[in-house]
Amino acid sequence: MSNKRLIIALDFKNIDEVSNFISKLDPQKCIAKVGLQLFISEGPKVLEFLSHKGFEIFLDLKLHDIPNTVKKSVEEISQYNVKLTTIHLQGGRDMIQAANEAKGDTKILGVSLLTSLDDSDTRELYNNDFKKQFDNLISLAMETKIDGIVCSSQELEIIKDTSLIKVVPGIRNQHTFDDQKRVMTSGEAYSKGADYIVVGRPITQAKEIGEAIKDYS
Ligand code: C5P
Repeated sequence: MSNKRLIIALDFKNIDEVSNFISKLDPQKCIAKVGLQLFISEGPKVLEFLSHKGFEIFLDLKLHDIPNTVKKSVEEISQYNVKLTTIHLQGGRDMIQAANEAKGDTKILGVSLLTSLDDSDTRELYNNDFKKQFDNLISLAMETKIDGIVCSSQELEIIKDTSLIKVVPGIRNQHTFDDQKRVMTSGEAYSKGADYIVVGRPITQAKEIGEAIKDYS
């Protein structure tokens, strides 16, 4: 694995916006994350575009379907130069194993419980408290030997001693008023064992993008 640990979320509408933004980035210093919006608007050509520009890619589509469908989808993803991609651990053991079988050189990351869910949601959905539900999903991740997980700052504490690749979004070095509720600074995340951090708006909307990248690297 390379020593890059900053993943920048390219939450843009189209390739024109991406092209304008990445002209300010060094592909040796960061990984590019493509999420649902950009992938729906541009499809695989955005992967080819970023790859051609020299970027390693994190394709964050959070797959959750029957094992056969996920297997075929991961097979397609692995044809592109995608370093990391995501599935929902809640898709279950067979679905995770299907993704593992199809992954090629792409690393599979499991999403445990979305950061938008809390204890009342896990009780409603699974008749289980948040912590127990999270622990069940982490046990499943370990047993299925998935490559890593996307986790919040608090969850990082729980899994710090596992061999899973740890990818942490919700990173804020300055106080902001936005939709991220459970945040930590990049320094805290790295010191608590994050292998990668995911940063979007604090970099994409910064006045001085170069300075922001230094701050989060
Ligand atoms: O702009 P911001 O730094 O909040 O962007 C964080 C990125 O990480 C977004 O692309 C978001 O979809 C993603 N993400 C997240 N929380 C998760 C999983 C992914 O914020 N639990």
